[in-house]
Amino acid sequence: MTTKNLLFLPGDGIGVEVHAEVKRIIDWFNKRGTVTFNIDEGLVGGACYDAHKVSILDETVDLAKKSDAVIFGAVGGPKWDDVPFDVRPEAGLLRLRKDLDLFANLRPAIVYPALADASSLKRDHVEGLDILILRELTGGTYFGEPKEIVTLEDGQKRAVDTTVYTTSEIERIAAVGFELARKRSNKVHSAEKRNVMVAGVLWNDTVTALHKKSFSDVELHHILADNCAMQLIRWPKQFDVIVTDNLFGDVLSDEASMLTGSLGMLPSASLGAEDENGKRAALYEPVHGTAPDIAGQNKANPIAMIASFAMALRYSFDLGEEAQMVETAISNVLDKGLRTGDIMQDGMEEVSTTAMGQAVITEMEALS
Ligand code: IPM
Ligand code: MG
Repeated sequence: MTTKNLLFLPGDGIGVEVHAEVKRIIDWFNKRGTVTFNIDEGLVGGACYDAHKVSILDETVDLAKKSDAVIFGAVGGPKWDDVPFDVRPEAGLLRLRKDLDLFANLRPAIVYPALADASSLKRDHVEGLDILILRELTGGTYFGEPKEIVTLEDGQKRAVDTTVYTTSEIERIAAVGFELARKRSNKVHSAEKRNVMVAGVLWNDTVTALHKKSFSDVELHHILADNCAMQLIRWPKQFDVIVTDNLFGDVLSDEASMLTGSLGMLPSASLGAEDENGKRAALYEPVHGTAPDIAGQNKANPIAMIASFAMALRYSFDLGEEAQMVETAISNVLDKGLRTGDIMQDGMEEVSTTAMGQAVITEMEALS
């Protein structure tokens, strides 16, 4: 029997509550005994700032590097609005992404049948929707230098963020996009702003060249990022995989999440490159944030976090069947009419975070 090491970083706000539900799912797997998960836990974000005046400790980053997968909650909140920029809660997450070289961020937007009416769009636009936003996560505007605010001679200030991409950075994310598409509907949209940004010109040229060289069997479309945002609302079913840069990916994935009915539903995986043993660094997190307005009230939707763990089963532990079981359990629970507040609809039963977690486990029990 193999033991897998997980690092739990619940972070702030509802991150803590949704982690508790994943913990119960993991306990369930541990009891069944096909695989054993060992859990270490650390502080990140505001919780770490409160204890150590930084948003993550070096030793936690080391633990993350040694773990088989990081299970991350969410960071930030108004409580830390005034802390220095370099130690703000989000900096802990950005450091993990960078130090573990988690360049490939997979953000699926899947519409569960029971939730098609909760979407911001009409049912026929989203029913059966299954798209994947693949966001480059370690380059671009998030990390480019210079990144600074300087004071000019006349006393006003000047802020600079820089968008930087190299050929190899674009190639490696595009390759992941083409490979994922081959296992799905074999279609990639590459989104950039080549009409305004030279980073977009290089992005476009590089994706085109890679496609020609190694992936010509995959259908490729180039799309301007603003048009992509519009098309996502107009007719989202035209997409399969959307590969895009760090900043556009941040925005487009939030937009895509609303197609599914709730930000509380969307999982994500952030993956590094495979080493010679086929192992890759990985961090799994829900797309939602810390939701300070409902934190600590047992109201948060744990589904995105649980579905993120299902992605860990699939992408880090090669446990596709187990992943599928968790996902089916989620879908069944929704079919039965259970809803947390964020996805509540007429005639459904509103349940707490813990009740939702328990319902998923009960359903897994029935499926296994
Ligand atoms: C996300 C979040 C983060 C980002 C924040 C918390 C730094 O919005 O994961 O999409 O901007 O990448
Ligand atoms: Mg975001």
